[in-house]
Amino acid sequence: MTQWPEPYRIKMVETIRLTPKEERIRLLEKAGYNLFQVPAEAVFVDLLTDSGTGAMSDRQWAALMRGDESYAQARSWFRFYEVVKGITGMEHVLPTHQGRAAENILFSTLSKPGLVIPSNNHFDTTRANVEFFGAEAVDLVVPEGKDIHAKLPFKGNMDLNLLEDLLRSRGRAGIPICMLTVTNNTGGGQPVSLENIRATSALCRKYGVPFFLDACRFAENAYFIKQREPACAGMSILEIARAMFDCADGATMSAKKDGLGNIGGFLALRDGDLAVQLKNALILREGFPTYGGLAGRDLEAIAAGLEEVTEEPYLAARVGQVARFGEALIANGMPILEPTGGHAVYLDAKGAFPHIPGEAYPAQSLTVALYSEGGVRGVEIGSFMFGKKDPQGKLVPSAMELVRLAVPRRVYTDNHLGYVAEVAGEIVRHKERFGGFRIVEEPPFLRHFTAKLAPLA
Ligand SMILES: Cc1ncc(COP(=O)(O)O)c(C=O)c1O
Repeated sequence: MTQWPEPYRIKMVETIRLTPKEERIRLLEKAGYNLFQVPAEAVFVDLLTDSGTGAMSDRQWAALMRGDESYAQARSWFRFYEVVKGITGMEHVLPTHQGRAAENILFSTLSKPGLVIPSNNHFDTTRANVEFFGAEAVDLVVPEGKDIHAKLPFKGNMDLNLLEDLLRSRGRAGIPICMLTVTNNTGGGQPVSLENIRATSALCRKYGVPFFLDACRFAENAYFIKQREPACAGMSILEIARAMFDCADGATMSAKKDGLGNIGGFLALRDGDLAVQLKNALILREGFPTYGGLAGRDLEAIAAGLEEVTEEPYLAARVGQVARFGEALIANGMPILEPTGGHAVYLDAKGAFPHIPGEAYPAQSLTVALYSEGGVRGVEIGSFMFGKKDPQGKLVPSAMELVRLAVPRRVYTDNHLGYVAEVAGEIVRHKERFGGFRIVEEPPFLRHFTAKLAPLA
């Protein structure tokens, strides 16, 4: 087989509409050319994120009805606990309302000024939580992870030499925990090999540093391992996932990704003493430890989702769809980050719009073009999101200018994504029609959510 079809059929549909182009242009102006401010109803194909945007299965919808909403020790909690423990092998599970709440609880206890917390790449909310509580978040991804055209199998791997240098120089006293994000969202959804996870874990053990996985996309990562790491070809997805978690002392999870839920998350741990400390923070911020930040019905839906996400036919269709989307974009002349990751395709805006300099936000221009030309919503990951200012207040453009088109799970067909690829192709063919932007209003931090822009004359 060259292409695995989806192992499900469609039972319910939701109408989407392509608003007229004049309407889209009016909405863009009103939104200050910021796609986070455009009403979702006026978006035709919404690829803003794969987080919480997936379609639940009949099993999950049925599970919602079984939700036990008892405050403490609810039946739904035990179901959730057994599934999470079954996958991770970890004894202590703390449910949270989403991934960043798990991070907040973990780092409110472990992150302190003067400490450093390494990862391959911290996701933005992870970095924000690490830094909010005082430690420095450092990214140690392998060099090929920063090369958008290197077609290599595991571009999310940790650079073991850099990690060992850091562990040697700062020691256990300076490093409270080491993280590893699987798959590496910030680095293009690229996977981490089991060999690298094991080696990272072994280094952490050698220096006595606890090792945690940011496991949001653990199943997609396990699927890539099965496909690309010959030693694991004969293992099931669950066996690979367990082998990944066996290396770790704990994990943070956003169930909005590989939990196939619309909300939810958890922290899983082996260390009982740390679990007691974190449960106190959980009670303060999220809720009683058997529901955390979730309703009983959410716990049920996530438990069912976690079972479904490790099914190989689902993963083959999921990862295959993202790969085909990447191929369709390339065939239409749109340069992308290669190879495609597990959950998204990243467009190379520098390649698509070479006439727009970094100071004029080429990736934001491409994001705006996708919406104006086709009603498609993606997210800029470039100078608008990450650009820093020099002491004179001048923008230092970001090294990469990307537009992430994240594919929600089980929501769009290849036809939708083929349409997006054609829209992208038209844009590249007529690139001279699209110009740069300037920021006219911006908040002090995380500006990409609310800043307003205007086209350059
Ligand atoms: C790798 C990674 N870690 C953590 C998070 C945070 O999860 P949440 O959005 O549920 O707070 C995300 C969300 O996109 C993510 O991709």
